[in-house]
Amino acid sequence: MEIKRIAVLTSGGDAPGMNAAIRAVVRTSLDKGWMPFGVYYGYSGLMTHNISPLGARDVGGIMQQGGTMLGSARCPEMRTEEGCKKALATLEHHNIDALVVIGGNGTQTGAYALSQLGMPVVGVASTIDNDLYGSDITIGVDTALNIALEAIDRLKNTASSLHRAFLVEVMGRKCGYLALMAGIAGGAEAIVIPEAEFTPEQVAEQMRNSYNRGKQHAIIVVAEGAQNNAEKLIHYFKEHGKEYDGSYGFDLRLTTLGHVQRGGIPQAFDRLLATRLGAAAVECLSKEQTGVLVGWINGKVGTTPLSEVAGKTKQIDTKLLDLANILSL
Ligand code: F6P
Repeated sequence: MEIKRIAVLTSGGDAPGMNAAIRAVVRTSLDKGWMPFGVYYGYSGLMTHNISPLGARDVGGIMQQGGTMLGSARCPEMRTEEGCKKALATLEHHNIDALVVIGGNGTQTGAYALSQLGMPVVGVASTIDNDLYGSDITIGVDTALNIALEAIDRLKNTASSLHRAFLVEVMGRKCGYLALMAGIAGGAEAIVIPEAEFTPEQVAEQMRNSYNRGKQHAIIVVAEGAQNNAEKLIHYFKEHGKEYDGSYGFDLRLTTLGHVQRGGIPQAFDRLLATRLGAAAVECLSKEQTGVLVGWINGKVGTTPLSEVAGKTKQIDTKLLDLANILSL
C-alpha cells in the first residue's frame, strides 16, 4: 500500500485535544513525505467535497485551542450504505490513499464502515464521554472532568454559604464515567449514574443524612443519561414541596453544566494523549496496519480492530461508587 495523500477528519461531539491530534497527524504525515488533507465538518465534509490540503503552518498555534479547527458534525447519512459509498467516492475523487478519523462511538462506527468498503482507515479515540471501547481514556475526558470539577468547587462555595444542596448535571450520554469521576474528585454527597440508578427518595435521604451529620452543603452529581436525571429529580422535589423547601435540611438548586464541559483550553494530559495517538495513527498506516482504533491501553498506545469497537461501549467500574459513598461521610 503506497500512501501519497492522507486525509484527516474530526466527527461527532468535539473534544478538547482534537486539535493536538490533527496537528500530530499532519506533521507526522509530512515527515513521511505524504501530502495531508483536512476534511471539514466531519463526514458531512465528505458528502460535500469540503476537503483541502493542510500544511505544517496551517496547524500551527492550534494545540491550545478547544474545539476542532476542522469543524465537526453529526452526519446521519453515514449510517446508511449509500452515505458511506458517497464518502468513499469523495475520497477516491481526491485520490486520498488513507484516512484518519478522530472521534467517539458513532464516528468509529462510520470509520469501520469505510474500512469495510476498502478504504485504509485508522481511528483515533476521542470523546469526553469516555465510553469508547478500545481506549482506557479518550481525548478530551481529562479537560472535561477538570471543567466539571471547577464548577463543583465553585458551587460548594455558594452552597456552604447558604446551607444549600446542588444537583449538578454533567454530560456523558448514556455513560456515567464523567459523573462518577467528578463526584469522587469533587467530594460529592451522592452520585447518580445510569449504571447504578438512585431513586429520588434515596437522593432525598442522602441529603437529609448529610444535613444531620452537620454538613454545610450537599453536592449531588447527576449524569445526564441517568434515568432519574436532574430534570426528573427536580420535578420530584417540586412535587414534594415540603422536601424541596428545606425539610430535608438543605434548600435545593440545580446547575446543568451541559456543553460548557466541551469547551476551553485543553489540559496538558489531553494535549499529550492526542499528540501520541495522532502520531501513532500515522505510524499504523505506514506499517499498513489499517481498520484499527488507536487508543490508550494499559498505560501505552495500543490498537483494537474497528470491527470490535463498532457499536460497542466500554463499561465503568461501579465499585468506585461504594468508595464515593464511604468518603462522603
Ligand atoms: O458525546 C459527547 C456529548 O457531549 C455527550 O456527552 C452529549 O450527550 C452529547 O455529546 C451532546 O450532543 P450535541 O452536542 O449534539 O448536543
